[in-house]
Amino acid sequence: MKADFVSTPAADSQHGSTPALIEKEIIGSGERRLSGKCRRVLEAFLGSCVGVTLCDPERELGGMIHFLLPEPISPTMSLYASRYASTGLPKFLDDLVRAGARKEHLRACVAGGALVGEVSAFDLNLDIGGRTSAVVERILSEQQIPIARMETGGFFTCKMSLDLSNFKTSIEPVMDQDFARAERTEPRPFELDRDFPDLMRHLKPIPQVALKILRMIDDQNCRFADIADQVKQDQTISAKVLHICNSTFFGRGRKVDSIERALTVLGERNLIKFIVSAFLERFLFSTAGGYSICKGGLYYHALATAQLGERLARLTGVSRPDLAYTGGLLHDIGKVALDQFVAASRPLFYRQVISRRRSAVEVEQELIGIDHTVLGAMIGDSWGFPDSLREVVLHHHAPERARHQQPLVRLIHLADLIMARFAPGYELERIDSTDLDRRLQALGLAPDRLREVVDQVPSGTTDLV
Ligand SMILES: [Fe+2]
Ligand SMILES: [Fe+2]
Repeated sequence: MKADFVSTPAADSQHGSTPALIEKEIIGSGERRLSGKCRRVLEAFLGSCVGVTLCDPERELGGMIHFLLPEPISPTMSLYASRYASTGLPKFLDDLVRAGARKEHLRACVAGGALVGEVSAFDLNLDIGGRTSAVVERILSEQQIPIARMETGGFFTCKMSLDLSNFKTSIEPVMDQDFARAERTEPRPFELDRDFPDLMRHLKPIPQVALKILRMIDDQNCRFADIADQVKQDQTISAKVLHICNSTFFGRGRKVDSIERALTVLGERNLIKFIVSAFLERFLFSTAGGYSICKGGLYYHALATAQLGERLARLTGVSRPDLAYTGGLLHDIGKVALDQFVAASRPLFYRQVISRRRSAVEVEQELIGIDHTVLGAMIGDSWGFPDSLREVVLHHHAPERARHQQPLVRLIHLADLIMARFAPGYELERIDSTDLDRRLQALGLAPDRLREVVDQVPSGTTDLV
């Protein structure tokens, strides 16, 4: 069982880039981090979630915690204390004091709790972010810890940073200011006849063996032995799968050194997830940064949507969990292709999305002439995606248009929407959720179960595969 006290690897030092002098570490939802003085900056991207920094500068101790919900939805959730303000904040305080901080020296900063995206009366009623902030304020007041800065509510995603070299916290809006100031640069329109063949030549291809596995998953009768044989033929992927197994689930001394051993420990379904994710990392990680504000953002967004989709499939029973996982992983595949177009005109793109409150799909159509759902489906067609995946890719922003796999598409739509609100740093999507209650009901979920849905959001990046 994983502890909830986890930290992500430094975003800037992943995947072989030169280590930065000041290391940045992203604190994902449900994670907390405590540290002494050092040259590192902790960062959290906060939409509806609430982030808190607590520091004792005299003792040179401080940290950050990132809450998803005000309180656990059931007592059994206490294993993941950091996800909830009511359980995580007392634990975090306790950790600080045990590490040597003096309670009377502690100063707090609080941020997040926004209503990101279009807001419905249903959202205002439920007000998850507002209630999480209220629990944080109550606990800090009971513990007589002053709040040096509090920026909660509003309608925008913000970035909260804690500089551990001086224990100063900064809170800034993620998109609106930078993008409003920047110059207007028109993107080059996508010309289908010229750009699509060019794109397919230059796009890092998904290996044939990965496509074969995706089709096997779509086919209910797939045999794991066939998949395992395919994986063993690709040494890089075998190594990657074993690395993920060893680093994610198991402590030292219980090394998983073969696909057979991984199968025994994880079971078929989990191992297939690891395999598909490992294949797609190579493809999804290779973006220029048009759709994301952190390195690898699209890949993490894909993994998180996959993980949440799979959990929601189990919760609702409307779709096979393994199909929901692969659907979540691939839903935004068109963004990998459009990323370079968006990156070239990011300020203009996001000014349209944010200040004019329009969906990314509409803005893509207007500025580039094609959107990521249509382009994604074209890529899927040329690679021979199974029909279920094609429908997810094409209709995940308008699930009512799906003809054959509507429950699956609705599920991925909901997972995407929830991730856009509760893990907004990985991908800058803005999804209309004015009729969120109707979207829940279409999956057989009563509107008051939204908190239960949010509770399925994976914690940080370590909970993603
Ligand atoms: Fe999308
Ligand atoms: Fe998405």
